[in-house]
Amino acid sequence: MLRPPHDRYQRLYVYHLAMDLLPEITDPDFIGGWLEDGKPILFFHHDKQQLVEELCRQHNGTIFYQADLDYSDWEAGHAITAFAIDDLTVAPIWEKTPADIRLDPSVIFGSGFHPTTRMCLAMLLKYLSAPELAINTMLDLGCGTGLLGIAAAMRGVKKITAVDYNSLACELTGKNAERNGVGNRIVVEQRDLLKGLPDTKVDLVVANLYRDLLRQLFQNKAFWQGNLYIISGFISGMEEELLAALPDKGLRMLERTRGDNWCLWVLLRTGQC
Ligand SMILES: C[S@@+](CC[C@H](N)C(=O)[O-])C[C@H]1O[C@@H](n2cnc3c(N)ncnc32)[C@H](O)[C@@H]1O
Repeated sequence: MLRPPHDRYQRLYVYHLAMDLLPEITDPDFIGGWLEDGKPILFFHHDKQQLVEELCRQHNGTIFYQADLDYSDWEAGHAITAFAIDDLTVAPIWEKTPADIRLDPSVIFGSGFHPTTRMCLAMLLKYLSAPELAINTMLDLGCGTGLLGIAAAMRGVKKITAVDYNSLACELTGKNAERNGVGNRIVVEQRDLLKGLPDTKVDLVVANLYRDLLRQLFQNKAFWQGNLYIISGFISGMEEELLAALPDKGLRMLERTRGDNWCLWVLLRTGQC
């Protein structure tokens, strides 16, 4: 995350370590990190070879991968800047232009520059503006930066549970929610969805995830207790397989759209799945 003296991301110094814990780091150039397959991956604004080698000595670990790259390369070649979806404007915190949402995207998925995030945001705005649906509660499964939940809170959703297994995503979602004045509407839960679900009895479930996790969720009855579902995170070649994994009753497909080969479905639950 951005902390003084840093006010934007330029170069990223990444270290993936063979050790079993996420070490505590107070260095002002530390951006954040998380455990990837149980091993810490750490991000800094500057070269921290010495500090990381010292951490390895302390915790009996080794560096098994390291790289430095431009922030835009981490963000798949995008220069992260302000954008709008319908009448909602989003800007990174280092831009001074007025915007509805000011976001620290950090090094977490959900800057708003991936087609699935954009499609989810557009669909979210569309369905939140349908008063007959009365969407007051929402689950954001795989919340990343928290952008979708924050947008929902700003459009009147009263209670959002934002879930991610990534510790930095959870911390960032909380900070971004507070920064945008909706911290009181968003509860952040660090949880691995492969190991268990939060309560899905909500008006809207948004799940921008990936094929294998979606297939597993589709086959879990506990997933299907919400009213409306916005689902994305898979490409068109995976659609048939995922369609086959849906429960055979209790759902109506309201929309099937694509953007840049990425798919998004909107499903309404009409009965017991
Ligand atoms: C495609 S990103 C979506 C982020 C954001 N919701 C958006 O639309 O931009 C998927 C998110 O799901 C999280 N995730 C992946 N597998 C997960 C799991 N098993 N349990 C919880 N979160 C998971 C990732 O850490 C990531 O933040």
